[in-house]
Amino acid sequence: MLVAPSILSADFGNLEKEIKAICEAGCDLVHVDVMDGHFVPNLTIGPVVVQPVAKASTKPLDIHLMVENNNFFVDLFAPLKPKYLSFHLESEKHPHRLIQKIRSLEISPAITLNPHTRVEDIEYLLEDLDMVLLMSVNPGFGGQKFIPSVIEKAKKLKELINKRNPKCLIEVDGGVSDKNIKELKDAGVDIVVAGSYVFGSDSYKKAIDSLKI
Ligand code: DX5
Ligand code: ZN
Repeated sequence: MLVAPSILSADFGNLEKEIKAICEAGCDLVHVDVMDGHFVPNLTIGPVVVQPVAKASTKPLDIHLMVENNNFFVDLFAPLKPKYLSFHLESEKHPHRLIQKIRSLEISPAITLNPHTRVEDIEYLLEDLDMVLLMSVNPGFGGQKFIPSVIEKAKKLKELINKRNPKCLIEVDGGVSDKNIKELKDAGVDIVVAGSYVFGSDSYKKAIDSLKI
């Protein structure tokens, strides 16, 4: 299992220190939550803040867009060269076109599904995707309760992925901890995002290690 701590729960007064600490603690990716105050009822950070994050990080960035105007935000964050750039299916009229655009910028395209969105809705996008991000909370805030139906969704998605594009990875985001990691692993999940579980722990290393099963 790969682990991507979400910096939403980090101490933003000491961001550089926090990024270095999770990288030293052995995370695989650094998850950055970008919210526009329209698609979700919260507002986070733009490239001015993500740039020093990218500089401090020794691990690739995994940028999760929770925005309405995806095209604009892809243009804004592409110069930071994240490994993954994901956008929500629910806010995009032309997902296939946007996936191709992200790929043309030499970034791995990923698509995110809200808890209620059916995995069947992306069956015909899978062959063009490097990753699918399944939300296990309603996007907008850290520290929410894990929605267990994501386990069934991950299993269904894994079947579709095996059929359409076995190289596509599954990531789960929201309420992840040592309590649900085994179930997620068994369902075929490759990467977990963990915010409050990692940053709320006494030892980032112990928390990250407990998810690397
Ligand atoms: C929620 C964000 C998550 C969030 C996860 O909208 O996408 O990445 O920070 O936080 P936890 O792990 O605390 O649920
Ligand atoms: Zn996220």
